[in-house]
Amino acid sequence: MAGFGDPAFYGDHWAAIYDEHHAGTAGLDPAAAVEFLAGLAGDGRVLELAIGTGRVALPLAGLGVAVEGVDASEAMVARLRAKPGGGSLPVVIGDMAEVPVSGPFRLVYLIFNTLFGLLTQARQAECFTNVARALGPSGVFVIECFVPDLARFDRGQRIRAREVTEDSATIEVSRHDAVLQRVNTQIVTLDGQGVSLRPVALRYAWPGELDLMAGAAGLRLAERYGDWDRRPFDSLSAKHISVYRRD
Ligand SMILES: C[S@@+](CC[C@H](N)C(=O)[O-])C[C@H]1O[C@@H](n2cnc3c(N)ncnc32)[C@H](O)[C@@H]1O
Repeated sequence: MAGFGDPAFYGDHWAAIYDEHHAGTAGLDPAAAVEFLAGLAGDGRVLELAIGTGRVALPLAGLGVAVEGVDASEAMVARLRAKPGGGSLPVVIGDMAEVPVSGPFRLVYLIFNTLFGLLTQARQAECFTNVARALGPSGVFVIECFVPDLARFDRGQRIRAREVTEDSATIEVSRHDAVLQRVNTQIVTLDGQGVSLRPVALRYAWPGELDLMAGAAGLRLAERYGDWDRRPFDSLSAKHISVYRRD
């Protein structure tokens, strides 16, 4: 697989700036997610799919939770390894859709919209199936996904000025395909060094479609919230935290 379809594509293009880029992003403070996940983990084995630079896994491990990880990008995992506690965390390099580790896990989680990084319905469904296989009895799968907002796009495209300074401009450029439920984005920075591109591709899904994929894998929706603080999920929610339980 090449380009957007390569599991390592996103991480290899973002690793150098991932933590810095998201440092000021509202909602990315991991504290509430860590508390939520620790409550479900108890003293069981835990797996983060797409563990990245350890934004959530490292503070979770710091609470004594037995966290392991999977990620496709060696470059992202190198950044995790360079952080305190990152050297000893078990991480397998591989494709999260395949869940290339042996369970049973009490908790598997896949957060920050990363399920949508699997670019077809078949790949997302494969992920649910393989998570279900890796969960122990009564194990849970937690996902965090945005609720699609198609009003962002005007005739299949969107251009947004993200940041303008004295010597640079950062623009977000997206194309939307409503049939494939696909959005391809480039975050383009123009500055004295020239042009830099940060690509992101995703295939979004509504909660109902995710619940069907989960059901086909033998997982049932047990809880759904609008955020990590367990605020109610409703028609105004921009995202959902969904907890699926193995039957
Ligand atoms: C948005 S980051 C999220 C990282 C981390 N979970 C967090 O919340 O900060 C997406 C991560 O998914 C990884 N990734 C993308 N596609 C993947 C795939 N098919 N298999 C495994 N990892 C993948 C990337 O390498 C990157 O580390």
